[in-house]
Amino acid sequence: MVIGIIGGTGVYDPTWLEDVKEHVVETPYGKTLILEGKLQKSPASVFFMNRHGLDHSVPPHLVNYRANLFGLKSLGVDRVVATAAVGSLNRDYIPGTLVVADQFLDFTKSRVHTFHQGGPTGVVHTDMTAPYCPAMADVITAEAERQGIAVHRGGVYVATEGPRFETSAEIRAFRMLGGDVVGMTGVPEVVLARELGLCYNTLALVTNFAAGISSDVLTHQEVLDVMAAHVQHLRSLLLAAVPQLTEPGICRCHK
Ligand code: HPA
Repeated sequence: MVIGIIGGTGVYDPTWLEDVKEHVVETPYGKTLILEGKLQKSPASVFFMNRHGLDHSVPPHLVNYRANLFGLKSLGVDRVVATAAVGSLNRDYIPGTLVVADQFLDFTKSRVHTFHQGGPTGVVHTDMTAPYCPAMADVITAEAERQGIAVHRGGVYVATEGPRFETSAEIRAFRMLGGDVVGMTGVPEVVLARELGLCYNTLALVTNFAAGISSDVLTHQEVLDVMAAHVQHLRSLLLAAVPQLTEPGICRCHK
């Protein structure tokens, strides 16, 4: 299995990779920059990109999600592991912990969220009962536990449009609906991955309690600071988990 890594906020650093080659991939949806290299200890090449660009210049609602996923697929990627900064709606999911979500609620508004636009290829409805790859979740969670990283397996990821943060009323409503964490990029990324038959999962790092749960006013700098304080965990987890993810697991993501 060939692994693609989509870095989120705070995860830009291509020095994780050795023998780096740059691919500017032309897709029907536009160009995307993908780096190919080797993670330490892993003999296989992996493909890496940051969804916000390596200089964090692209906000969540303007990310070209289709070009990113299509680009990874066209380089031969079978499995995508993404990272994301998230706010927590669940008092048990405290800042600094990792959440491997198993469901999402979609509150995005303006994004192209599908490859299937009708026409000659017809109308396609993709099953989304279990959007995140369970085989990847097994590997990631076991490796995080082995490394002593605080991790929650399972949780409902609420995707918001951004780039603004949420109101405290929105967060209260999302919590009533069953949300555990909130972020601005998980959808449509996970949906497009499934449409392409890719396995997909996210290492979501809780950077803050969401609006109104914490009495503090939330800033992007706070998100960046907490991410920077924990990026070493994400890095060591990826370094150890990615070689294990190259082994196929039991899942139906490609069907
Ligand atoms: N809301 C939305 N996105 C986020 C948050 C948040 O509280 N924290 C990090 N990304």
